[in-house]
Amino acid sequence: MATAVPSAAARIAVVTGASSGIGAATARQLAAAGHRVVLTARRKDRIEALAEELTKAGHSAVAYQLDVTDRAAVDEFASAFKTIGVLVNNAGGALGADPVATGDPADWRAMYETNVIGTLNLTQALLPKLEASGDGVVVVVSSTAGLATYEGGAGYVAAKHGAHVLAETLRLEIVGRPVRVVEIAPGMVKTEGFALNRFGGDAEKAEKVYQGVAEPLTADDVAETITWAVTRPSHVNVDLLVLRPRAQASNTKVHRES
Ligand SMILES: NC(=O)c1ccc[n+]([C@@H]2O[C@H](COP(=O)([O-])OP(=O)(O)OC[C@H]3O[C@@H](n4cnc5c(N)ncnc54)[C@H](OP(=O)(O)O)[C@@H]3O)[C@@H](O)[C@H]2O)c1
Repeated sequence: MATAVPSAAARIAVVTGASSGIGAATARQLAAAGHRVVLTARRKDRIEALAEELTKAGHSAVAYQLDVTDRAAVDEFASAFKTIGVLVNNAGGALGADPVATGDPADWRAMYETNVIGTLNLTQALLPKLEASGDGVVVVVSSTAGLATYEGGAGYVAAKHGAHVLAETLRLEIVGRPVRVVEIAPGMVKTEGFALNRFGGDAEKAEKVYQGVAEPLTADDVAETITWAVTRPSHVNVDLLVLRPRAQASNTKVHRES
């Protein structure tokens, strides 16, 4: 029996980590593109405020508090939906910038839990719903850290390599089914939380990450790319898209003006 394909306007888009940075910007842009957005994150006040803002602007948006590492909570969340058009696995981030010799195993575990297991949890729970839509898209927001390493980055690099492999493998495994798997791998993006979280709230250290870089990417730059990828025609799968600021040629080669 043929599955009815909903119009783009009726598509539900679930965005994880929608309380700040790339996730919040993506929720805004997917809503503007006509999706019914479901904002998830742990900070309820933030996603509720964003859902209200979007609703007032005439979009369809709801907030749902969710920790992506909590599988029982993810399963309960997923049970609320019959079909979903888009899942953006964006929740994640880095903890610490220590060398392998002294990195904290607890940070490594936490990064793996959020960036890899979190993505796995949502993807497993929602895959049947994406397939049921007849035209689903799973987005994995990995990183250029998922493709190459840098000193002091091994814990995050290992986790993002995990997210990259998850995306690549899933694409192989579900080929022939009506679900695309898109990986977006940004380089340096200046967001509200990324560097601050990495350095345990130390604003000075966080600011140094971007020091002298003329124009790091913004959350909107990445959100535009995600929105572009998911709004391609159904037969077009953007496998992997790497984007960096012009001032960054690789993870270790960054032009700084001062
Ligand atoms: N900024 C960069 O340079 C850069 C580059 C490449 C890739 N990325 C990736 O892009 C994604 C977004 O990062 P960002 O730069 O926008 O940083 P951000 O502003 O710190 O946002 C991170 C988001 O992830 C959510 N999150 C973290 N742990 C979570 C958990 N256990 N459950 C649910 N949500 C969780 C946070 O929400 P709550 O705290 O409210 O839960 C927040 O909304 C991350 O996966 C990051 O690794 C960032």
